[in-house]
Amino acid sequence: MRSASLFLVFLLVIYSETVCQKHVEQTQKVPTKPPDPPVSTTEAPTTPEAPTTPEAPAMDEFLGPAECLEKKFTRGSCFLVFCPPWQRCIEGQCSCKPPYLCPSVDVAPVCGRNNRKYRSYCQVMAASCLTEETAMSHFGENCGEENPTFKSSIDSLTGGVKVFLPNDKNPQDGQELMVCSETWNMAAANVVCKEHGNRLGAMTANSTIYTSPTNGGDSNTSLERCLKVRCQGYETSLAECEIQTFHRTGESSIATVTCHDPAEGNGCGFKCANDKCVSLSQTCDGVDHCGDRSDEMCCKQCRDGAFRCKTGVCLHPDALADGLIDCLDGEDESEKFAFKKEEPEPEFPHLRKLVSSKERYSPKEEMRAGRAHLESQLYCGIANSTTVDIDEVDVRERAARVKRVVGGVPAKPTQIQWQIALVDRGKIDCGGAYIGGCWVITAAHCVRPNPSSFSVKFSIWKKTRSQSTTDIVPVKDIRIHPRYNAATYENDIALVQLKKLPFMEECLEENPAISAVCVPWSNQLFQPNHTCSISGWGRTADGRGSKVLLWANVSLIDGGQSFYGPRFKPGMMCAGDLDGSVDSCHGDSGGPLVCEDDLGVSYLWGIVSWGDDCGKPGSPGIYTQTAHYFEWIRLHTGWSAVTKFNS
Ligand SMILES: *[C@@H]1O[C@H](CO)[C@@H](O)[C@H](O)[C@H]1NC(C)=O
Ligand SMILES: *[C@@H]1O[C@H](CO)[C@@H](O)[C@H](O)[C@H]1NC(C)=O
Ligand SMILES: *[C@@H]1O[C@H](CO)[C@@H](O)[C@H](O)[C@H]1NC(C)=O
Ligand SMILES: *[C@@H]1O[C@H](CO)[C@@H](O)[C@H](O)[C@H]1NC(C)=O
Ligand SMILES: *[C@@H]1O[C@H](CO)[C@@H](O)[C@H](O)[C@H]1NC(C)=O
Repeated sequence: MRSASLFLVFLLVIYSETVCQKHVEQTQKVPTKPPDPPVSTTEAPTTPEAPTTPEAPAMDEFLGPAECLEKKFTRGSCFLVFCPPWQRCIEGQCSCKPPYLCPSVDVAPVCGRNNRKYRSYCQVMAASCLTEETAMSHFGENCGEENPTFKSSIDSLTGGVKVFLPNDKNPQDGQELMVCSETWNMAAANVVCKEHGNRLGAMTANSTIYTSPTNGGDSNTSLERCLKVRCQGYETSLAECEIQTFHRTGESSIATVTCHDPAEGNGCGFKCANDKCVSLSQTCDGVDHCGDRSDEMCCKQCRDGAFRCKTGVCLHPDALADGLIDCLDGEDESEKFAFKKEEPEPEFPHLRKLVSSKERYSPKEEMRAGRAHLESQLYCGIANSTTVDIDEVDVRERAARVKRVVGGVPAKPTQIQWQIALVDRGKIDCGGAYIGGCWVITAAHCVRPNPSSFSVKFSIWKKTRSQSTTDIVPVKDIRIHPRYNAATYENDIALVQLKKLPFMEECLEENPAISAVCVPWSNQLFQPNHTCSISGWGRTADGRGSKVLLWANVSLIDGGQSFYGPRFKPGMMCAGDLDGSVDSCHGDSGGPLVCEDDLGVSYLWGIVSWGDDCGKPGSPGIYTQTAHYFEWIRLHTGWSAVTKFNS
């Protein structure tokens, strides 16, 4: 009984390809391509007769699968997306960080609505996150009581959006400007409606020609300039969006908004996680129509040129190559979008001189700097390529004769820099992975709670011989997962804590041949069929271990239960080649299965655990799924050791 229910939970976590295919067929009665409506009209319901059961979400070839939609993912679902810098990921949900954890380098001061000065955008947002009230007014440091703060208003007649932006250098002399229609979209419209007390945000975002001051403005509102705002959707006020003064020539078109009115709902194309209704055609287009991003979280494809991350999240094209990673695997910032990088002010190049930095307010700059800073503190997943190779000749000579990681080839002597060998009373029977600081991960079945009988060998290639880069480190403590079950291999994971060097905080000497591998925090970071690599000194069918470290490529395989039935438990995963030509084997135990993201950063995706008859067709290897144990690893090793932007 118990194992059956656990099994179901696992099924929900990994959407099987077959389930999702089936669903596409079931929903064929929904028109596959609904006509694209004008920017913001509220449509009639797509097909009134379509929903057969009231709960079944409408879907098309973009939105879905249903298993994903049922989970009501939002922008706070950090197994699929990154949290902003003032939040961190705890058990799949972004949670507010205490403000003091915000980065403090490369930041600009911010005035609060309470006339208090904050050190950074992150700090004011962290404060706002905790109190659930808008705290930010504007970038600047002259925040005295007598100084005006940011204001926005919506003209009741035209829906035109107007903003008062205080001037920090000359606090009494702010500027009141209409918001430009350029870059105006539902994400921004939601923000201004929320700012004015409408929890569900906007119904439409539109524009209108702004001809004379009597048309929605007043005589003091400038016409030659307007404010371009670009919002992400998390903001609670336009003050928190990217704001840029924009110089007009000729006719002006300004942003308008209609805020959400529950009385006006006519049918629900897509029901957001926050219960707002948007049309089906507004989903999966990279714009946060819901206000909680739930319309962009479960997509089979993206509409209107939006970009799909492998986790199924659609991004606005502006998010590509903007210097901020949005897809968990970094694909949106990978080389293939390098051509898109930063074209400043293409519309008005001759005016660039006028657009001083005082006319542009970009929280993104600070986020970029903050992430760069976090990244510099935590270095993992990239091997040091400056390392010299040892014994190249020896590698080639052995390549012909040795095959151990079934189907594997010898690694170069300093290639797999996170691979360690676990020495148990002088013998090596298990591998492991170095995750930074004083910590190594291995399989629970490789260790006993007896630290003194173990030591860890770093940078070893030949199992029986140290090389010039080899470091042998004694073990201080061994933490076996509390629910490890030696009979079923459930929770087959253990942390090995190394002894510190005498009179030092570090456990290892500087060594260019040793690098840490990153620990994944989300089980969505890599998807089935991703090619990853395994390494070890394990045995093959002939029963002898390899003398040198071998490595091989394996594919992540969905649905291990189809090979192993109920023996396949949550926290386990499957990898290999179904024909059995590549597999891990006895003696590889505890060793790393490592996957590389689109930026070339390597993650410890699995730990070699068990399998039936290594290398036999239809019995792919079973690995402990590291991401499943992220919270446990973090608890023992601390935040800074294990994660990048979600910390
Ligand atoms: C949006 O604006 C256009 C042109 O200004 C207008 O024709 C259209 O009806 C507007 N749509 C809505 C929903 O207000
Ligand atoms: C326009 O500005 C003047 C002086 O700056 C001020 O006295 C007047 O009240 C303002 N008018 C409106 C409608 O805000
Ligand atoms: C790589 O090794 C060299 C030589 O020891 C060292 O100077 C450098 O900092 C290392 N780079 C990284 C990224 O660890
Ligand atoms: C994974 O690979 C298998 C076999 O090559 C293929 O049938 C399947 O469609 C692939 N799945 C995905 C999600 O690409
Ligand atoms: C694994 O795949 C990568 C990329 O396709 C390739 O460069 C590498 O040589 C492969 N490794 C092995 C051991 O086959």
